[in-house]
Amino acid sequence: MKKILVSGGSGYIGSHTIVDLLENGFEVISVDNNSRSHPRMLEGVKKITGKTIKNYKVDLCNYDDTFAVFQENEDITGIIHFAAFKSVAESVEQPLMYFENNLSSLINLLKCVQEFNVPYFVFSSSCTVYGNADEIPVTESTSPKPAESPYGYTKQMGEQIINEFAKANTAKCILLRYFNPVGAHPSGLIGELPVGKPENLVPAITQTAIGKLSKMHVWGTDYPTRDGSCIRDYIHVSDIAHAHTLALQFLLERKSPKKCEVFNLGTGNGVTVLEAIKAFEKVTGVKLNYSLGARRAGDVIAIYANNDLARELLGWIPKYSLEDMMETAWKWEQKLKVDEKFYDGKYSPLN
Ligand code: WQD
Repeated sequence: MKKILVSGGSGYIGSHTIVDLLENGFEVISVDNNSRSHPRMLEGVKKITGKTIKNYKVDLCNYDDTFAVFQENEDITGIIHFAAFKSVAESVEQPLMYFENNLSSLINLLKCVQEFNVPYFVFSSSCTVYGNADEIPVTESTSPKPAESPYGYTKQMGEQIINEFAKANTAKCILLRYFNPVGAHPSGLIGELPVGKPENLVPAITQTAIGKLSKMHVWGTDYPTRDGSCIRDYIHVSDIAHAHTLALQFLLERKSPKKCEVFNLGTGNGVTVLEAIKAFEKVTGVKLNYSLGARRAGDVIAIYANNDLARELLGWIPKYSLEDMMETAWKWEQKLKVDEKFYDGKYSPLN
């Protein structure tokens, strides 16, 4: 079996990707210092797949500790790099922490790719690299605008670092630009664990619906869109996960003529905030308590993907609908309520 190192394996997209990799015959190890994730998420992976995943509790910003993981696993075929801080608001308050954490960890991993001749490297990027795009839907060749936050800059700079690395080395790389990952594994055994008060829309919806939050706000209803609220491309996390398996298979089958390929991972459907809320209410029957608030700084008006390249080259076909996204997110939130002590009595390891 091909061994894949997943950094951030206890995280939201990392844990879902490990499930998909295992179901497709890969062997997986995780590297996660649990600074922003809960180690018990890998217990959820075991309940789904029956497999125990070894996690190295290592800070990737420590080169020696990272190097030691590769010394112990000289047969790593590929790396999927998820581990990074991802809060837009926090990055505005603490830019240096974001640049240091997100870029040092990436550079240390790439140094190990070089040292240990790891053939394949897949990077967790984001549609945030496009900034406020002039043309939507965006394609992979849509030139990035200035990022809206230090977090966004760490994704843009991360892509540039990998591009230059790939030119100078033998490893083949793929950059996957996620749009808005939402929802949870259909089993309800793994899902998103927001750190503290949720910034993102869907956890804010589900935590309000379950009563963890008394109400949520729609940030802005005066945008030039069909109902005044922002448009995003919500994509189920399990569809995102499967795209990583397909990306590795694409590399392993040597179908990639380029040293570094880029793919958009979105459904191609733009959905407004109010439409997302209506979909949640329709699927769950829960009336959401929300108010119409002012715009949030840094929000782009509208963005959604042209996903033709991932469909054509990776054979990727997103299968979950917006209703599925809301249904699985709600199922996970309800499970969390029951298993609250399972995650140390709080929904996240930090608050
Ligand atoms: C979506 C829409 C909000 C919460 C960011 C990053 C992206 C990725 C996902 C990491 C916006 C509105 C939200 C709320 C609201 N991050 N909203 N009330 O900002 O598109 O993307 O998170 O992987 O890289 O850029 O996602 O879910 O925060 O916001 O009205 O309580 O929902 O204003 O219009 P965003 P989001």
